[in-house]
Amino acid sequence: MPKEVVVYRSIYGATRQYALWIAAHLHCPAFDVRTIRAKDLQEYDTIIYGGPIYVGEVLGAKFLKKNLNTLGHKNLVLFSCGLNDPEDERNQVNTEDQLSDILSDELMAHIKVFHLRGAIDYRKLRLLHKIMMAMTKRSIAAQDPSTRTPDDRHLLVSYGIPRDFRKMDAIRPILHYVWALKYESLRYDVAP
Ligand SMILES: Cc1cc2nc3c(=O)[nH]c(=O)nc-3n(C[C@H](O)[C@H](O)[C@H](O)COP(=O)(O)O)c2cc1C
Repeated sequence: MPKEVVVYRSIYGATRQYALWIAAHLHCPAFDVRTIRAKDLQEYDTIIYGGPIYVGEVLGAKFLKKNLNTLGHKNLVLFSCGLNDPEDERNQVNTEDQLSDILSDELMAHIKVFHLRGAIDYRKLRLLHKIMMAMTKRSIAAQDPSTRTPDDRHLLVSYGIPRDFRKMDAIRPILHYVWALKYESLRYDVAP
């Protein structure tokens, strides 16, 4: 029976929540990327990596590239978790371009990527993150309004207000993809 595992990085818990939802639906374990080594993942057929987006970068995704020898032949699935609307194609393109930069085009061609929407609670941010968000807001406010994206406008009006876009339903496409992989491999496992 093919086995799956979820590996994640999360600072404030939104990505972790998605990772735990996915693991619960797949009946598989979920590990914080900082607590495991690639060799611990040898027994799994599908690795689902979840990373939050900070300043355009999917945290921890380098784990997949660093451990290509051990993980490269497995099914690789990655989900990002950011505040910007993942339905907006520009955000998907930006995130995937950044992933290609750090993972390489070859590895990206082997990874199925999904984008989920996270959460933010300004009161709970570390000081550095508070400062970064304040600077982002100031820079958007200084821009010509006609150049602002819908996410820019959203940040201007919602800055400081806790936002939570997580919904369990959003993991459905990931589950369908992984279940399809599972049944495909079972089909080939059955002796004629
Ligand atoms: C300093 C900072 C920078 C961020 N940069 C981005 C970004 O570039 N794109 C995005 O979509 N979300 C961005 N976010 C929002 C986070 O991705 C969002 O809060 C996410 O849910 C965090 O996941 P976590 O709780 O697992 O750490 C940023 C948040 C902070 C605090």
